[in-house]
Amino acid sequence: MKCARSRNECECDHEVDAAASNPALAAEQSAVTGDLVIIGLGYVGLPLAAEACSAGLKVTGLDVNERVVRGLNSGVSHVDDLSEEDVRAMLDRGFTASTDPSVLATARTIVICVPTPLSPEGGPDLGAVTSAAKSIAAHLSPGTLVILESTTYPGTTEEVVRPILEESGLVAGADFHLAFSPERIDPGNPTFGVANTPKVVGGLTPECGEAAAAFYGRFVNTVVRARGTREAEMAKLLENTYRHVNIALVNEMAIFCQELGVDLWDSIAAAATKPFGFQAFYPGPGVGGHCIPIDPNYLSYKVKTLGYPFRFVELAQEINSRMPSYVIQRAQELLNESGLALSRSKVLLLGVTYKADIADQRESPARPVARKLLAKGATLTYHDPHVESWQVDGQDIERSTDLDRALAEADLVILLTDHSEYRPKLLEEYARLLLDTRGVLRRTPKDEDPTVVPAQARRYVQREGIQVL
Ligand SMILES: NC(=O)c1ccc[n+]([C@@H]2O[C@H](COP(=O)([O-])OP(=O)(O)OC[C@H]3O[C@@H](n4cnc5c(N)ncnc54)[C@H](O)[C@@H]3O)[C@@H](O)[C@H]2O)c1
Repeated sequence: MKCARSRNECECDHEVDAAASNPALAAEQSAVTGDLVIIGLGYVGLPLAAEACSAGLKVTGLDVNERVVRGLNSGVSHVDDLSEEDVRAMLDRGFTASTDPSVLATARTIVICVPTPLSPEGGPDLGAVTSAAKSIAAHLSPGTLVILESTTYPGTTEEVVRPILEESGLVAGADFHLAFSPERIDPGNPTFGVANTPKVVGGLTPECGEAAAAFYGRFVNTVVRARGTREAEMAKLLENTYRHVNIALVNEMAIFCQELGVDLWDSIAAAATKPFGFQAFYPGPGVGGHCIPIDPNYLSYKVKTLGYPFRFVELAQEINSRMPSYVIQRAQELLNESGLALSRSKVLLLGVTYKADIADQRESPARPVARKLLAKGATLTYHDPHVESWQVDGQDIERSTDLDRALAEADLVILLTDHSEYRPKLLEEYARLLLDTRGVLRRTPKDEDPTVVPAQARRYVQREGIQVL
């Protein structure tokens, strides 16, 4: 049905038809009515839902995990960045969570935030993405804006998601909008969240990009338009591969600097005073989390389809995955210098999550470190304020909750995660032998002049039995 009058002048239902023939108009409406469904309510989907709720959008969360859905609907948060108070505020603003895909039928905008792990063979596992796309296809209506946020290889939105959505009989770019917008959430980051981290969007068509930019513009301060979906997909993988490669660079340097007698932490601190062309990365026990150890594999996979390897990624993987063994080697040397053997030592691991001040243990290097220590006969305990129980290959590892006492009782302490609780003075005072794999002992206290950049590495460790990686 066609109506000659403009949308503002007319109350008749021509808006529905207009939206069907003009996805850009539909997206505009979606921003107004705010009918948003987010698929996947994890570390990425839930903060996005919270921000959209705050902006006044009517948000429904769809997840396959009944426990997650039940918890959210009763005000319980399962991700670090949102408190129960935050979830209750979302519920007050009309948020509901559901396991029923029929909620998709009334959505004007759908954002997919499901996991993209690796398959057992080490390649991309797009099972959750394709399953989410199938649910959407079964309920897709004309004029809907569909955005994929899950990290994936370039081409996924167009080659994998688009054909599934078009099984609905609707055509992407003509009947509905399709875009990719990489999630950049940094769990535990107190400064940058959804609203103040620039959001990259790439549409299947310029109109799709326009619609996605208008949607995010409702609650994100800066929206950056990429040329298309592939460029937006690649932007995310470039960001993560850049980190992966640079971490590998300093990890490899840490190993040979130790042998050369060079204080790499000091060199990094010195190099970081250059106001342009250098960004500081620091050595560590390996890379963890859902992004750095996994995402570059997606790109590697895509490059391999061209018949050659992505050598930078493969080298970075090789170096970073060797770090847990290097940590064990250093731990053993430290014990031996005191006449102790690893097989008869009590070893305390400080921090088992993959990064500071969060509870996420995915791909944490603490696990391979613990596995190797157990294999060498060490008696293992761990301390982590964010992890109540911890198993390695099915074996329960004893938890210490009294930090001072645990430090004093261990023959060797290995600091694996730089949680805020692990203050240099405390560690130096109580630990007999300590291997700090995060450079915590090199950091100046926060109250010292922060303009003397960088804070990392300006502090020197003098006590015997204490080493930094
Ligand atoms: N966590 C991060 O720091 C981060 C940062 C940037 C990008 N990403 C990317 O964002 C995506 C999501 O990651 P995450 O950390 O939020 O994962 P997550 O595991 O925390 O949450 C994903 C949620 O999706 C649900 N789910 C799985 N399959 C589903 C389906 N078919 N339908 C509905 N729900 C489904 C799961 O039950 C879970 O609750 C991944 O591609 C990841 O690489 C993550």
